[in-house]
Amino acid sequence: MNKRFYVTTPIYYVNDIPHIGHAYTTIAADILARYNRLLGNDVFFLTGTDEHGQKVEKAASEKGRSPKEQADLMVENFRALWQRLDVSNDAFIRTTDEEHTKTVQGLLQMLLDRGEIEKRSYAGWYCTPDERFWTEKDIVNGNCPDCGRPVEQIHEENYFFLMSKYQERLIKHIEENPDYVLPETRRNEVLGFLKNNALGDLCISRPKQRLSWGIPLPFDENFVTYVWFDALVNYFSATRYLVSHAGEAKLGDFWWPASHHLVGKDILTTHAVYWSTMLMALDLPLPGNIFAHGWWTVEGKKMSKSVGNVVDPHAMADRYGVDAFRYFLFREVPFGLDGDFSEQALINRINTDLANDLGNLLSRFLTMAEKYFKGVVEKPVGYTIAAKDLPGHCIAACISAHDKRNWTHLRFNIILEHIWDIVRAANNYIAQTEPWKLAKTNPVFLKDVMFDLWNALRLTAVSLCPFMPETAEKIWRQLGLRSLTEETMKSILSESGKGLPGTLNWEWNPDYEITVAKGEQLFPRIEKDRKEKVEENKTETVSKEEKPELHNLITIGDVAKVEMKIGKVVSAERVKKSDKLIRLQVNTGEERQIVAGIGKAYSPEDLVGKKIVVVTNLQPAKLMGVESNGMLLAATGADGVPVILMPEKDVEEGAKIK
Ligand code: MSP
Repeated sequence: MNKRFYVTTPIYYVNDIPHIGHAYTTIAADILARYNRLLGNDVFFLTGTDEHGQKVEKAASEKGRSPKEQADLMVENFRALWQRLDVSNDAFIRTTDEEHTKTVQGLLQMLLDRGEIEKRSYAGWYCTPDERFWTEKDIVNGNCPDCGRPVEQIHEENYFFLMSKYQERLIKHIEENPDYVLPETRRNEVLGFLKNNALGDLCISRPKQRLSWGIPLPFDENFVTYVWFDALVNYFSATRYLVSHAGEAKLGDFWWPASHHLVGKDILTTHAVYWSTMLMALDLPLPGNIFAHGWWTVEGKKMSKSVGNVVDPHAMADRYGVDAFRYFLFREVPFGLDGDFSEQALINRINTDLANDLGNLLSRFLTMAEKYFKGVVEKPVGYTIAAKDLPGHCIAACISAHDKRNWTHLRFNIILEHIWDIVRAANNYIAQTEPWKLAKTNPVFLKDVMFDLWNALRLTAVSLCPFMPETAEKIWRQLGLRSLTEETMKSILSESGKGLPGTLNWEWNPDYEITVAKGEQLFPRIEKDRKEKVEENKTETVSKEEKPELHNLITIGDVAKVEMKIGKVVSAERVKKSDKLIRLQVNTGEERQIVAGIGKAYSPEDLVGKKIVVVTNLQPAKLMGVESNGMLLAATGADGVPVILMPEKDVEEGAKIK
């Protein structure tokens, strides 16, 4: 049976649109999922949305929507972004799914029946935005120790999950499983916290009169489930109903537990402590690993809507390409540490690593292959890797890039560095062997060199595939190979079935009949004037849903709907009993009557014979009983006085305005 690999992202709140932080975790999970698929493992990659709770209820009411309407609208932003960023999730869970709701209720009932949940009356300090209770000693000058916002005193009855009794077992589990919480610094933090503090019990309900948007407790209709209890269960509930039904064996128990839960550092406690103890109480196995990544700041500042520096992943993908964006996020900063995002840093990476190192290597190789061998690549007779720099170097770099510990510890930046070792070694090899000289002096050796370069690029493509799927595919095809998905990593890395080293092989599959095909440049350099433009445009703050609301933006399609023409005023007179309205007969290719509110600024005789701009496809309207078929354009001048727009040069009446 194949190895099972199940990876999750946090499920994202639908109170707002996705930003670079959401993209970061989701692409990381995608890299792991793609890598494991290439290794031939059975993969289940889950992402989704967290749709209950106060945050969502509040956002919905601010927009005048019901929470479900808010969720239905916002969920599409997440789905669209994952598609745009080439995210290959196998399933998408929504906590409003009926099956999820039932699972949450089933587990709550089970915990109650087992005596793991108790009703208590409670007084505590509550942080509404974070939806968390704090004790007296936690709060700092009346504020939440986490987000700094004011907390309020709350007295109420609630249901508690008896989390405290699992404290020792959790400490033991983390100590005995060094990879359970990663990176190590975060593991130490969690252990430190658990060893130095008494773990409390977890309030897992909210009275309905305070919050109604949640899953009702199955045993008390006056309460809904605390949003974190509901949300964490998603990882388990999805395995019950969202995995394809290709055989019962793939359902339920096959998929649980997860191999990796990827989360941001801010939500590590909820996962490492709440979720782990919930699973213990439910007698379910614990996940293999919880990995907490760092946070992105933007040009040194915390990303925030009010500062207006929230990075929109759509804009980055549009401007620089999906793969360059994906590459940057994982090359620039070790996964686990905080990082700083700037478009300048992204451009630098594109110009150096992608355009100079990788793009140039491919294009130089292809040009030479076409020039010296009409594009045909073959394994030279009597080929041996002995005493050659490049093959040895590539094998070493590849072994490191595919080192299991690098992958289990999610050292993406190190893996990419190793892949770039191959790229750089290949570039050096060209410089050392000088193929253009060999073409004249030693064509037999030139064949070896070209084969080595081809192979180096082949290994680069396959290794890059999880990070930059589209680029890998492009390289693959230009190398004259079939689809990368058909040529799995498995067939490359373990042709002899003996694992990595000797098998990063320079073996020639007898089926190969390779003619390379030079295609478009992979990564054009981004020139200086582009950089300046970037400075002007800097970080995007909005996308999809918010744009029309915040900036009143319309699309080019909306503009195209408005038909405007040049019209010549044939006659004009004041509308009776109005000092503001003037009735105009205008020739816009056909004669029409327009009524305009310009009477205080113009007299009718000023207008006759003038050329003006008219909206010609406006629905007819009556102004003081006079029909108007169109609208003339006027600017609002000083003191609100209308100033009619007229063409700067003479234009025929009826001319269209585009
Ligand atoms: N709904 C909860 C998660 C429940 S999981 C059972 C949640 N949702 S969220 O929409 O707020 O998503 C947060 C994720 O985005 C977290 O993993 C958080 O760490 C991450 N990030 C938010 N801002 C970030 C940065 N500036 N940088 C990197 N990641 C950031 O929490």
